[in-house]
Amino acid sequence: MSSNLTPSATRRPALDNRAEAANVRAMARGRLITFEGGEGAGKSTQIAMLAERLRAAGRSIVTTREPGGSPGAESIRGLLLTGEVDRWSPFTETLLMYAARRDHIERVIEPALERGEWVLSDRFADSTRAYQGAAGGAPFELIDALEAQTLGAARPDLTLILDLPVEVGLARAAERSHAEVRFEAKGLAFHQRLREAFRAIAEAEPQRCVVIGASGSREAVAEAIWRAVADRLGVQQREGA
Ligand code: TMP
Repeated sequence: MSSNLTPSATRRPALDNRAEAANVRAMARGRLITFEGGEGAGKSTQIAMLAERLRAAGRSIVTTREPGGSPGAESIRGLLLTGEVDRWSPFTETLLMYAARRDHIERVIEPALERGEWVLSDRFADSTRAYQGAAGGAPFELIDALEAQTLGAARPDLTLILDLPVEVGLARAAERSHAEVRFEAKGLAFHQRLREAFRAIAEAEPQRCVVIGASGSREAVAEAIWRAVADRLGVQQREGA
């Protein structure tokens, strides 16, 4: 039977189908939203609030964090965030951050994006630029090379930089009782350089980044975040949600 079909009749639908399938796949890819900023900015609270609102708007949401987010990366997190302040040099920290990041991308972020889910990550690559690079002094050539080789297609669609005065953030962070204080303990000048670095990242990439003032109430901050997400990624709240 198939011998009666002309080559174009046999080929064209297959090509069209493939093109259509590729379109559907491209359209269905999820979005990566990253949260960045210094210590004590309230990222985890805000991520939970945004996740709830996006779910109400009909999106499938994965919330995650860095360093960490996958079992291997969580083990590396323990090495990075506990112990003596000078346990690692900024160069070594960069390598460990990227080992953790690659595992997180391979096992959590990329599969979720391919399933069409939206990933909200508490920190991502900008944190390495700010903490290890700008504030720590690790070479930007190293960070550029690792970013180019490691991130693959996992590039943030939107980055929300939560900004607040360093003293306020460190005081808030100090109220939490936990062992992960290596970076909190790095001193005021380090944290001031960090704040400047995040602002510079936002200025350099305004199409990807939005700076959110994080000094206000959590509701006010959540509203500013929602406006940025709705604006940049075209999300609409469902009626009655
Ligand atoms: P957090 O969960 O309180 O944000 O803690 C994560 C800590 O790790 C925070 O002090 C920032 C630091 N960090 C880096 O220094 N570089 C990185 O690339 C990432 C992801 C985090």
